[in-house]
Amino acid sequence: MSTPFGLREVREAYRRAGRWLHRTPVLTSRCLDQLAGRQLFFKAENLQKTGSFKARGACNAVFIEKEINPASPGVVTHSTGNHGQAVAYAAKCAGLPCSVVVPRDTPKVKCSAIEEYGAELVFCEPSPRSRKETCAEIASKTGRTIIHPYDDYRVMTGQGTIALELLEEVPDLDAILVPISGGGMTSGIAITARGMQPACRVFPVEPAGKFLEKSLRSQERLWPNPPQFLDTIADAIRTQQMVVEAASGAAVYAALHQLEQVTPPPQKVGVILCGGNVDLDHLPWVNQMGLK
Ligand SMILES: Cc1ncc(COP(=O)(O)O)c(C=O)c1O
Repeated sequence: MSTPFGLREVREAYRRAGRWLHRTPVLTSRCLDQLAGRQLFFKAENLQKTGSFKARGACNAVFIEKEINPASPGVVTHSTGNHGQAVAYAAKCAGLPCSVVVPRDTPKVKCSAIEEYGAELVFCEPSPRSRKETCAEIASKTGRTIIHPYDDYRVMTGQGTIALELLEEVPDLDAILVPISGGGMTSGIAITARGMQPACRVFPVEPAGKFLEKSLRSQERLWPNPPQFLDTIADAIRTQQMVVEAASGAAVYAALHQLEQVTPPPQKVGVILCGGNVDLDHLPWVNQMGLK
């Protein structure tokens, strides 16, 4: 099946959005290499603008919107926070108005960041359905364009620029570990890796309790309909001198403990540290230890 975007579009996204983004560093650690028994290359998207890789897809999508419609009434999205911050940032860079729908229980640090970028916050119930409906309502009332967090080729293409930079720096990677939720980042990275280094395998990493791997293998949708959120501290993927959020930790865990199961075992592995936005007031061990 042909895909609606490829390496060419990812390169275009990089030209379009690159000046609003950081080229994030690729970090290595001899100590972690020893623990893992292979070479690990950490792509530090926690140091990206807005604190997560999401700025890439959002900037690509918002600047495409501006190219297509210079008089655009703006953009609207729904997000637990990282994509919301990213779209708010991108809209500010592009000079477009922006509304962000967030569930009532979104960490405060993420809400404040969205508002600081000048976007309007709209609260909804903490369910995927409520988010979608509220977002659609705003779009139909205001004419703003919806920038979906992952089901949007402009967003996926922007996320592909992570792999573009990573494979430019380490061209002979034989695997990349990508924390997955909706799959926008994984899609962008997989398409880019196939174009640049076809031998490189891309492994999505999901928190325990999700059914993605089982569903793909059985070719059946095994999760509840409508979808429910998983109870996990990796809140960004429930659908530290270096501060990384729990979603990034999922890829680090997989790099250290799970690659033995893979044949042939990869030797040079990219690990996407996808974000660093941590709400310090809501770390589970802070509550457990009575530190609050
Ligand atoms: C920090 C972080 N990592 C990973 C993901 C998963 O990305 P995707 O939904 O594109 O699979 C998200 C999504 O919100 C995120 O915020």
